Amino acid sequence: MLRRGRFLIRIINYFTNVYYGDYLPIVSISLTSDLLKKIDAFMRERSYSSRSEAIRDAIRDLLSEFELSRFETGRVTATITVISGHDRHDVDERLMRLRHEHDEIVSSNMHIHLGKTYCLEVFITEGEAEKVLGFISRIRAMRGIQQVKYTIIPLVAEKS
Ligand code: NI
Repeated sequence: MLRRGRFLIRIINYFTNVYYGDYLPIVSISLTSDLLKKIDAFMRERSYSSRSEAIRDAIRDLLSEFELSRFETGRVTATITVISGHDRHDVDERLMRLRHEHDEIVSSNMHIHLGKTYCLEVFITEGEAEKVLGFISRIRAMRGIQQVKYTIIPLVAEKS
């Protein structure tokens, strides 16, 4: 009975939102159960009103990070740390293919095993900000990657 009531409220909300123009499109995303557990715990801890609100906030954060980095121009150097699951050998392979595609900006890379669970890859890059950020975006978008963190340092032209 309670479920049916909730369902009815959702339908009413849906039409009210459509009518007033602030309709939020519903998308379905697939998450690992581990990630879902973490998001739910995070949501409760930070008092988000819903899972959706927490996920919207995370998306805003991700987008603003890229907005900010778009203002970065000129030559930069970036150190990129990538964590992936040790059992995902396909990730290693795709990462190396990507590395070769970006040979002109990747100065060095290192592959380390963190116990038996994770692989850690570090890339040292140098080049035009746009290209370096493009490389980072490609890594982030790759399936099987667990975490990507980077630091960018602008290379100021030496005074003559
Ligand atoms: Ni490995």
